[in-house]
Amino acid sequence: MEFVNISSSDLNSSRIGLGTWAMGGWLWGGSDKNDCIKTIYKAFDKGINLIDTAPVYGFGKSEEIVGEAISQTSLRHELIIATKVGLEWTDDGVYRNSTKERILKEVDDSLKRLKTDYIDLYQVHWPDPLVPLEETAEVMAYLLKDGKVRAIGVSNFTPEQMSLFVTESQLHSNQPPYNLFERGIDEDIIPYCNENNITMLLYGALCRGLLSGKLELNSEFKGDDLRNFDPKFQPDVYDKYLLAVQRLDNYAQEKYNKSVLNLSVRWMLDKCRNDIALWGARRPDQLEEVSEIMGWHIDDESMLEIEDIVNSCIEDPIGPEFMAPGPRPNL
Ligand SMILES: NC(=O)c1ccc[n+]([C@@H]2O[C@H](COP(=O)([O-])OP(=O)(O)OC[C@H]3O[C@@H](n4cnc5c(N)ncnc54)[C@H](OP(=O)(O)O)[C@@H]3O)[C@@H](O)[C@H]2O)c1
Repeated sequence: MEFVNISSSDLNSSRIGLGTWAMGGWLWGGSDKNDCIKTIYKAFDKGINLIDTAPVYGFGKSEEIVGEAISQTSLRHELIIATKVGLEWTDDGVYRNSTKERILKEVDDSLKRLKTDYIDLYQVHWPDPLVPLEETAEVMAYLLKDGKVRAIGVSNFTPEQMSLFVTESQLHSNQPPYNLFERGIDEDIIPYCNENNITMLLYGALCRGLLSGKLELNSEFKGDDLRNFDPKFQPDVYDKYLLAVQRLDNYAQEKYNKSVLNLSVRWMLDKCRNDIALWGARRPDQLEEVSEIMGWHIDDESMLEIEDIVNSCIEDPIGPEFMAPGPRPNL
């Protein structure tokens, strides 16, 4: 496993982090708790020491599973628990809420669910347009000083929003979406984070499973699984993405004797050399190939060839914006 220091903190993270959104079940058609716990242990066996979760993932369930798994080991001090704050849920839906009151309540709820007395990396999940970013940053800075959190992150923030945030708080990380099919951050967020020493936790490494190479045109997604409404998985679009996956897989096999999954995660790690790829999993077998990502690199010529393959199959790339929650209604 490769490791990287999370900006100016004392957190030394594996360059692949385990994403636990699907473990919460919500928007992923449910999940099996025993499988999830085994997946977390499998991640540790593979050298992963960062686990990314959030209160909203299954409305507490993902954090509870992470807490239960870790509390049954003696590894707590070797691990980085990255969780988030600033989304509330009601019977009507999920909304952004980064008020001081909300953050101070959420941090204690998360600590309880995670069965721990500190959070290693605490991230504002989405910018809240109804609360000045400086107010949110001030509360986060207070939590750092108080020792409840060891480092501060944001997620889905633009450079402008990060610039405002840092007027009131240290900022160690940003968590944007990034993978071979979703490159909306190339021109602005990546350069900003590099120039300002902000580590990126890049989410959606497998583009919700597409880049695993295991999905087919007739794959079915259960219940509330978000791929039932993800625009990439809809007729006339999905087949183009699957064609790109097939061609990338052929290329990876011929050039590197690797799979498209290996190529996709390696591509992220080589493109963003000081950053972390978040790989979502909920069954232990899904992490079997983690070792295949290590010990090799993609050369510059191949980087261009890989981009050509993607561009030739997908003329109008679709971003991940459909996942963004809205602001609180009726204020
Ligand atoms: N900050 C944010 O706003 C935000 C947003 C999205 C995600 N995230 C974070 O980033 C993490 C990763 O993103 P993600 O979970 O959306 O998606 P992802 O990593 O792109 O894909 C995860 C899904 O891919 C499938 N998969 C994983 N390994 C596989 C394998 N070896 N073979 C076949 N399929 C495999 C699984 O789906 P099945 O189990 O259905 O097969 C898994 O749930 C999240 O868990 C979360 O921690 C953050």
